[in-house]
Amino acid sequence: MENVTDIDSIVGHIKKNARKGDPESVLKVADDFCSKNARQSMHIGPEKGSIVDDIFREHKPKIALELGAYWGYSAVRYGRLMEPGTKYFSIEFSPRFLQVAKDLVEFAGLSDVVTFIEGSSEDVIPRLKKDYNIDSVDLVFIDHDKTLYKPDVIRLDECGLLKKGSVMAADNVLCPGAPDYLEYVRSSPKFISTFYESSLNYRPEIKDGIEKSVYL
Ligand SMILES: C[S@@+](CC[C@H](N)C(=O)[O-])C[C@H]1O[C@@H](n2cnc3c(N)ncnc32)[C@H](O)[C@@H]1O
Repeated sequence: MENVTDIDSIVGHIKKNARKGDPESVLKVADDFCSKNARQSMHIGPEKGSIVDDIFREHKPKIALELGAYWGYSAVRYGRLMEPGTKYFSIEFSPRFLQVAKDLVEFAGLSDVVTFIEGSSEDVIPRLKKDYNIDSVDLVFIDHDKTLYKPDVIRLDECGLLKKGSVMAADNVLCPGAPDYLEYVRSSPKFISTFYESSLNYRPEIKDGIEKSVYL
């Protein structure tokens, strides 16, 4: 198989070959398969994924929020790092992607930790406090529409969901790129921001990276 982007093929392969209830096995099978067959799938992948793993390990969020679930790779990746009693919320506007992601997270045994929310980030963020009883978010993994990174972080701030020490980890800031977001978090006195250089998933020849920004 060459360059599969059909998520049913990817997730079908994972469910056939990984151990149920074992997120590490899910990630290993996903990474082995995608490195050979699915280089164009837009999930974070292992290299940038491990940079964000370290951010989760360092900051130990009690409430984490993901913008953009796709087929659930990052929800499994970061859901596995959440400590008992904590919550990982993931917003995704495609009902089809959401169903596949839910299924994969359930297969990985992480349904108690990961809550998927169907809808667009613009609509869901203002409802997080009231509908999901979220006071503030400790860590936001930003990986949806690159033109919405900046407005959605401003929205999170305006909705009172950021507090001192809240961390943003933004993927794809070089490829495809989020220049207005980078300009914003690097120049705003509200954030201290650091870039972690890496490459696009399974494409070592294409530069990309993660921008980590801590709310002051
Ligand atoms: C790059 S993929 C996410 C990859 C995933 N985080 C991973 O690493 O496994 C982007 C996802 O964001 C979703 N998306 C784009 N704009 C959105 C929005 N405004 N609200 C919610 N989801 C959105 C797309 O449907 C797509 O599934």
